[in-house]
Amino acid sequence: MTMPALALFGGTPVRTRPFPAWPVSGAAEEQRLLRVLRSGQWGRLDGPEVSEFETAFAALHGCRHGIAVVNGTVALRIALLAAGIGAGDEVIVPPYTFVATATAVLEANAIPVFADIDLETFNLDPAAVAAAITARTRAIIPVHFAGQPADMDAMLELSRGRDIVVLEDAAHAHGASYRNRPAGSLGNMATFSFQSSKNLTAGEGGIITTNDDALAEACRSIHNCGRVPGGVWYEHHVVSGNYRLGEFQGAVLNGQLERLTAQAETRERNGRRLVSRLAQIPGIHPQRRPADCTRHSYHLVMLRVDGATFGAPRTRVLDALTAEGIPCSAGYGYSLPDQPLFRNKAFGPYLAGIADALDYSASRCPNSDLICREQAVWLGQNLLLGGEDDVDDIASAFEKVYTHRGELIP
Ligand SMILES: Cc1ncc(COP(=O)(O)O)c(C=O)c1O
Repeated sequence: MTMPALALFGGTPVRTRPFPAWPVSGAAEEQRLLRVLRSGQWGRLDGPEVSEFETAFAALHGCRHGIAVVNGTVALRIALLAAGIGAGDEVIVPPYTFVATATAVLEANAIPVFADIDLETFNLDPAAVAAAITARTRAIIPVHFAGQPADMDAMLELSRGRDIVVLEDAAHAHGASYRNRPAGSLGNMATFSFQSSKNLTAGEGGIITTNDDALAEACRSIHNCGRVPGGVWYEHHVVSGNYRLGEFQGAVLNGQLERLTAQAETRERNGRRLVSRLAQIPGIHPQRRPADCTRHSYHLVMLRVDGATFGAPRTRVLDALTAEGIPCSAGYGYSLPDQPLFRNKAFGPYLAGIADALDYSASRCPNSDLICREQAVWLGQNLLLGGEDDVDDIASAFEKVYTHRGELIP
């Protein structure tokens, strides 16, 4: 039996129905939003929503403290400032991440140092981190990429005996776990994002989680204009700002949180099913999952297309999948050191007198470069929120494109 023609060339698409929409909301959000609206308590210091959310989210992620802030970028920066990271300190970050992981370091007036990722897990490679450590290293920021926890035992081991803080960038990792311990509780501190695409969202927002009382107190002060417990309103102890989350966002997040565990289970089940089918296709390499990942939060299903083995280049594979009705993308176009921001050292007021000595064109991140330039394919988390038939459509579309790969060669 011949396989039907590719939709790219006029055939019938595998998928014509839409995938589950994101965000999901309902009565829980509506009721809370209305209550906040009518109460007139719209600010974080007036009403109960943000405070309730901080406690519940932190507890779900194995932490005593949660400090909700305006977004995940600011959360990273506040965490670094709370840890005392500052002028000229080095902070090791992956080159394959959203730019905020590195710009938050710059905005703490510290130096981002790039260590490559592992080609199969897409997370920081411990050997590359070890090679990047110097006497000036003060922090490591492992990103739990796509929702799969980084090799945290290795990161903590590298920090041991050194004055190095481990700050998890858990922007993708709501509800993920590592050796049955929640992401967010694995390092000294962690940060999450609630931006629109994230697995828990209020459009914008972020949180810092920690079990360290002193770091929590420092974060709380920095997010609230340098105020301290017991201090009077116009008394400010550190340079900081107003990074507080508002009650409307707190209301939405409390509603979202009621669904997070069930959604995480659905994503995990569907993600595993999809990845096991995709892994059968020559040249398709889904993110390798070590046994220590006990819950993948699947913010993304990410994979590599090795064009030589698959038999068609990634760009054409993406075109063909899109035509088959599968929303997908190539993800980041640059390793971070190749971003104009780093190439031109466009650091604004930061690293004055320090930046001159830095040369980001000398950063070597071959795995990240290969993934950015030629191989990454991303599928969003909402594609996993339906049933088995939804993920089977995705797998069938990949298989169809593979069968027709010869037609995709330019
Ligand atoms: C890995 C990573 N870190 C940090 C952030 C920053 O979060 P936000 O957009 O809420 O500032 C994001 C997301 O957007 C991200 O994907």
